[in-house]
Amino acid sequence: MKLLMLGDVVGSPGRRIIKENLRQIREQLQVGAVIANCENAAGGSGLTAALAEEFVGCGIDAITLGDHTWGQKEFASQIDSLSRVVRPGNMPEGCPGKGWRIVTLPTWSFVFANVQGRVFMHDVDCPFRAMERMLSEMPRNLPVFVDFHAEATSEKISFARYFDGKVTAVVGTHTHVQTSDATILPGGTAFLTDLGMTGPYVSSIGRDLKPVTRKFLTGMPSRFEVATGPATIEGAVIEFDPSTRKASDIGLFRYREPL
Ligand SMILES: [Fe+2]
Ligand SMILES: [Fe+2]
Repeated sequence: MKLLMLGDVVGSPGRRIIKENLRQIREQLQVGAVIANCENAAGGSGLTAALAEEFVGCGIDAITLGDHTWGQKEFASQIDSLSRVVRPGNMPEGCPGKGWRIVTLPTWSFVFANVQGRVFMHDVDCPFRAMERMLSEMPRNLPVFVDFHAEATSEKISFARYFDGKVTAVVGTHTHVQTSDATILPGGTAFLTDLGMTGPYVSSIGRDLKPVTRKFLTGMPSRFEVATGPATIEGAVIEFDPSTRKASDIGLFRYREPL
C-alpha cells in the first residue's frame, strides 16, 4: 500500500495546483490516500471549513496543520466539526480540535497525527510527551502517519528516532523546503526531515520576494503577500504494509509547473 504526504499548501497557487493535478497524480502514483499540511492554505495563513471541504473534494483524505492553525478567526469554531483535520496535539489543553484522528476508507483505515516543534517556534507543550500520550489513546492495529511541524532539523531527527518502530512514518513540515534525507529507520518507520511546499516556487517559501527581501535589507516591517506564478507540489510517497504497520520505502515527490 502507498500513501502520499504533501508539504504545506500555500495560498491560491497551492490550492489551484492541487485542484488541477492531484487526481491525476493519485492515479499515476497508485496511492491509496493523501495527507496534506494545509496550515497556509487560506491567504497564506490558516484554513477554513470551506477550504477543508474543497481539499477533500480534490482528493486529499486528511489534513494536518501547524503554527498557523488559528490564522483565520472563524476556524476555532469550525475545527471540531471537521473529521479530516488535525492540529498539533501539543497545543495547550483547552484549545479546540484534536491532535490525531482516524480516516476510514472503503478498504482500509489509517491514523494521522500532528505535533509541533519547540525550537525557534512559539511555545507549545512537549511534542515527545504529547506524541506518547496520543499513541496511548490510538488503536494499535492501524498504520500511523505523523506530521511533525517543526523548524529545527535536530528536533525532527531526534523525534523520528525516538518514535522509530512505534509509528509508520514521521515526516516534517513547516520549512517549506524539501530535504533529501528520506530513509527507513531501523525499526521500520519512514522518515523525511521536510516534505517541502505546495505553492508558488518563485518566492521566499511561498511569499512575494520583494517585501521579504526588503525586510532583510532594511529591517522595516512589511506585509508578506503570497507570491503568484507557477507552482510546485512537493511531498513523499510512503510504501507500507497495513498489517505490520511498518514502512518499506519512502521516496521524494515533486511536480513542478514550468516557468
Ligand atoms: Fe507552513
Ligand atoms: Fe508552520
